Amino acid sequence: MSVVTTEKHGNVLVIFSDNPPVNALGSVVRQGLCDGIDQALSDDEVEAVVIRCDGRTFFAGADISEFGKPMKGPDLGQAIDRLEASSKPVVAAIHGTALGGGCEVALACHYRVAVPSAKMGLPEVKLGLIPGAAGTQRLPRVVGAEAALPLVVIGNPISAQKAHAIGLVDKLVGEDSLADDAIAFAREQIGKEPPRSSEGTANQDGVKNPAIFDEFRQKNGRKIRGFDAPEAAIQAVKAAGLLSYVEGVAKERELFTKLMTGTQSAAMRHYFFAERAANKIDGIDPNIDLIPIMKVGILGAGTMGGGIAMNFLSAGIPVTIVELKEEALDRGVGVIRKNYENTAKRGRMTQQQVEDAMSILTPSLSYDDLADCDLVIEAVFENMNVKKDVFTKLDGIVKQGAILASNTSYLNIDEIAAVTKRPEYVLGLHFFSPANVMKLLEIVRGEKTADNVLMTAMKLSKKIGKVAAVSGVCPGFIGNRMLSPRQEQANAMIVEGANYWDVDDVLLDFGFPMGPFQMSDLAGVDIGWHRDPDRIESLRDALCATGRWGQKVGKGFYDYDEARQRTPSDEVRKIIAEFAAKAGKEQREISKDEIRERLLYPMVNEGAKILEEGMAQRASDIDVVWINGYGWPLYTGGPMFWADTIGLGEIVAGLVKHGLPVAKLLKEKADEGGTFNG
Ligand code: 3HC
Ligand code: NAI
Repeated sequence: MSVVTTEKHGNVLVIFSDNPPVNALGSVVRQGLCDGIDQALSDDEVEAVVIRCDGRTFFAGADISEFGKPMKGPDLGQAIDRLEASSKPVVAAIHGTALGGGCEVALACHYRVAVPSAKMGLPEVKLGLIPGAAGTQRLPRVVGAEAALPLVVIGNPISAQKAHAIGLVDKLVGEDSLADDAIAFAREQIGKEPPRSSEGTANQDGVKNPAIFDEFRQKNGRKIRGFDAPEAAIQAVKAAGLLSYVEGVAKERELFTKLMTGTQSAAMRHYFFAERAANKIDGIDPNIDLIPIMKVGILGAGTMGGGIAMNFLSAGIPVTIVELKEEALDRGVGVIRKNYENTAKRGRMTQQQVEDAMSILTPSLSYDDLADCDLVIEAVFENMNVKKDVFTKLDGIVKQGAILASNTSYLNIDEIAAVTKRPEYVLGLHFFSPANVMKLLEIVRGEKTADNVLMTAMKLSKKIGKVAAVSGVCPGFIGNRMLSPRQEQANAMIVEGANYWDVDDVLLDFGFPMGPFQMSDLAGVDIGWHRDPDRIESLRDALCATGRWGQKVGKGFYDYDEARQRTPSDEVRKIIAEFAAKAGKEQREISKDEIRERLLYPMVNEGAKILEEGMAQRASDIDVVWINGYGWPLYTGGPMFWADTIGLGEIVAGLVKHGLPVAKLLKEKADEGGTFNG
């Protein structure tokens, strides 16, 4: 039986799709829609049509797994043109997420009804694309160019209420009565000339006020920097006002095809599947019984503890946070409240939500209050003895069957687990700073971590809005381990003669939000410094000795003005030159190409070692870590996918040229002309 079926309800034909999990518009569905509309048009008893989906959602888009393969059956544009051309009214009945091609199907229908919980959007830009089935042309004709711009260019979905307010949805219907309400609504339209979105005129707002396009570019400059698709999306929406519908669709096709065959979209589609693959752990039944997490304990209310707590509070999970001293506890809780208040000030949270979150936070100075937690996350100082001491205590106090996790950045989880009597319940939950903002959660699987403990952490990560990837136990896990060789090269190059701002700029040009020396200034050059100005063993010691501790004191590698704008410093240049002279390093000019190669190729090499040692399950997990935890530009697909696109032979040749080591796996793959990802 086809996944698309029809049901006659008197004079209304319901075309019904049931294509789990998300009703993606694969070839069979597209054919089913065409057949359904043919049936409606050839049956004289049928006077109106409803298109509805079963399962969790209306069509969530084209089937991304078909991209790049030969097209089977009617293309989506052709299929939905047939819906719009129908002489009998066609109504889209929307629940779940009508996204991408799904939103385009809805737009081609003459009317759209939706349940209040539904969402609609055109997220194609997130795959490096623009809508390719006339969405960029129909949407502005229905809601206007100004309202269409954020939907098409940024790609975030909107609620059904918002869609109703801008005219994208005609009627909101009962949450539990969509099927009946849509049929009733369709009946009311019989005998009326169906409105066709390709003939809408709302797009003229962009012609009357063309400044909206530049204003939009300026307002969203940071968000769209480096990405090709958003600019193409702006051009397509603009074209919707200036060109006829048919010419506009041709323009959309031209822009779409260019993006679809480009590297950015390939990289972003790779990332889409990578994020979902990272959730799957080889050899573990995804339906394994999970440990219910109803209450979380956090140890340490410092930079990380507070941020980690916010994730759970925001998800409605009660948190008990424990500190050593009243003062530290008060400060930590104060920071949590201040962060929430700031979010409320920016309108992203109501005051009631702030109070709700704070009301489920219990501050405490006693470990005993953690006894009944289902999960305790330790975020105390980064010192093995301290961690061992803390885990011994926790093991004695926290109920059996509860998970004990460490937020350590580098330390050995197995060594920590070994001090407990429940090593199978111990794992690493490595959050990134600021922990309430950064998307990544590295889940560190200890040698003895039980399967259900690992899967519980994985599922929990989704609940608190994180993107998770699993790492084995090794110093720095996946992310920080790969950061080390990059930092080593950055430090080495500035002593060999590279300008440190050139090193930063190379990474900014590549698409990172900041370079290593900007990062150092932001975090504090003095982190981990021994605080003895007379002991100068590294460049960092030399900077700290002169009070250049970073942005917080207005000077670090750079001088900062009041707007926190950075300027390279002559003083630092001198300190580096003196340091290099003392170290006997000859100075030379280092090109930006060399800087880029020496920063990035060793990271790929370290990634290869991580794979070789089985510390990451798959290359794409490494991409997920670097994109979400360190700002590696999404449009390159992450370090391993990026390496694939430039060629592993090229990476090996670069490493050899710069006298850097080459991992066995990288060499093997390069020799056989292979890639890391598929
Ligand atoms: N094509 C193929 N597979 C898809 C898919 C799609 N459009 N959308 C989701 N899937 C798959 C996922 O890969 C996943 O598979 P898995 O279980 O094997 O890992 C499964 O469906 C479930 O997806 P999620 O885990 O993401 O489920 P959620 O419930 O968390 O989210 C969703 C559901 C909001 C629909 C989310 O999947 C999503 O955002 N999907 C993509 C939507 C999208 O980008 N649509 C536009 C496509 S491009 C397009 O339409 C071009 C057109 O203009 C021509
Ligand atoms: P921090 O110094 O800001 O906070 C640590 C807090 O733990 C302090 O408030 C301290 O009073 C408290 N504490 C110390 N011993 C304690 C004990 N026995 N019981 C209860 N509380 C105790 O440190 P930060 O930055 O929050 O780091 C915590 C952990 O998170 C470290 O392991 C660190 O490596 C890791 N981490 C840090 C990141 C960062 O960017 N700061 C990023 C990711 C991980």
